Amino acid sequence: MVSRADAVTDTAIAAARSPRYTDEEMAAVGIRPLRTPEVEAFRAQPVDHVGPLPWPFPEDLGAFRYSVNVDPARVPRPTRAGEWGRHLVDLGGADYLTIMTEKRITHDADPHRTKIRRGMEPACWDLLLYYLRDLAITHPEVMHLDEGVDGNPDAFHWRNDLLGTDQRFVLGEWDSIPHGPLEFLSREVPDDMLLVTERDGRLYFDAGAVCFAAAWSVSFDVGMDMYEIHGPVPRMRREGIVARAEQFLRRLPADRVYRRLNWNLAASPTRKYDIALESLPSWGRDMALRQAAGDAIPNVQLRIELEHFVRLPTTGAVTFNIRTFMASLEELKAVPEWCAQLADIVEELPEDIAAYKGFLDFSGDVVAYLRAG
Ligand code: HEM
Repeated sequence: MVSRADAVTDTAIAAARSPRYTDEEMAAVGIRPLRTPEVEAFRAQPVDHVGPLPWPFPEDLGAFRYSVNVDPARVPRPTRAGEWGRHLVDLGGADYLTIMTEKRITHDADPHRTKIRRGMEPACWDLLLYYLRDLAITHPEVMHLDEGVDGNPDAFHWRNDLLGTDQRFVLGEWDSIPHGPLEFLSREVPDDMLLVTERDGRLYFDAGAVCFAAAWSVSFDVGMDMYEIHGPVPRMRREGIVARAEQFLRRLPADRVYRRLNWNLAASPTRKYDIALESLPSWGRDMALRQAAGDAIPNVQLRIELEHFVRLPTTGAVTFNIRTFMASLEELKAVPEWCAQLADIVEELPEDIAAYKGFLDFSGDVVAYLRAG
C-alpha cells in the first residue's frame, strides 16, 4: 500500500523533475512553436538536468572560497555526467520552452524586471544584435537572422522557430521591436541580461532584464557600482575580490568572451526559476511547506549560475549575463562523486558564507542526505 507521505513525495518529486506548460499556457505568453521536423526533433530531446550541468568545482576541490574564477568561454567542458559550455547560450534542450514560458510570465506580471538607465539604449541594441547573430550561427536549423532587409542596412528580420517568433525591426528605432531590444532579447533566451558601463574608473550596473535573480532585485541594484552591489557578500571587499573583479572587467578585451560559475542551494526546494526578491511571497514558504511534508531535502536544488562577460563591439558596454541551471539533490545521486564532493564542501563552508547563501539552517540535513547510500 502507498502511504500518504509516499504519495506526497512522489507527486512533489515528479513536479520538481518535469514541470511542463500546456500549449494554451505557452500561447498565452506568445510561444507558438513551429511544426517543422527540426523543432519536433529539438522538443523530443529527453529532459536531463544532470548531463548539461556546469559542475562548479574542480575535481580535487574539498573546500570552497570566493575568488575571481573566470575562464575563456565557448570551450566545451566535459564532466562526469556530460558536457557544458560549448556555446554562449545554452538553450536548455527540452527545458527551453518551460524556461521561456516562466520567463515571459514573469516579465508580463512585473514590468520592473527590466530597468534601463538613461543613455543605455545603444548598448541594448548592441547586445541584441550580438546575441541574435550568435544564436543564428549556433542554431541555424531553428533560428534565423536576415540583415539589410529590403536594402536597408539597419533593417533586420529575426525568426526563432522554437518559440514561433517572427519579428522585423530597425536598429535604433525603439518602438520597432516589442518591449524594446533588451526585454525582447530576454524573452528569446534563458539568460538574464545585465549591462555594465564604466564611469570615472568605476563599473556601474546600468541596465538589466532579470527574471531569475537568486534572492536579489534588479530594481534595487540597478545604478549601483560593483562595490555597492557586492556589499552584502561576506569577505568579498575585505579580501580584495571586488577590486580584482572590477579590474578584470575594465580590461576585458573586445575579441574574447569569458565566463564564470557561481553556485548555491536554492531557498526554494522546487524548480522555480523565479526566486527574485520581488516574488518572495510566491516562494518564501516553500521550504517550510516541503519540510512539513517531509520531502524538502531530496528536492533541494543545486542552483548554478553560468555568467558570461562580453565587451560589446559597438558601445564597449560589458555584459554580465546569467544562465541559471538547477538539479535536485535527488537527481545528483546519479553521480556519487559529485554527492561526496558537495557534502564535503557544504560541511566545510564557513558559517558567514553559508548564512549569506541562505542554507545554514538546513546544511546538516543536506550533508547527511548526500552521504546516505
Ligand atoms: C568577475 C566579476 C565578478 C565576480 C568574481 C563576482 C562575484 C560574486 C560573488 C562571489 C557573489 C556571491 C554569490 C553567492 O555566494 O551566491 C556575487 C553576488 C552578486 N553579484 Fe557578482 N561578481 C562579479 C561581477 C558582477 C557584476 C558585473 C554584477 C552586476 C552587473 C554582479 C552582480 C551580483 C549580484 C546582484 C549579486 C547578489 C548580491 C546580493 O546578494 O545582493 N556581479 N558576485
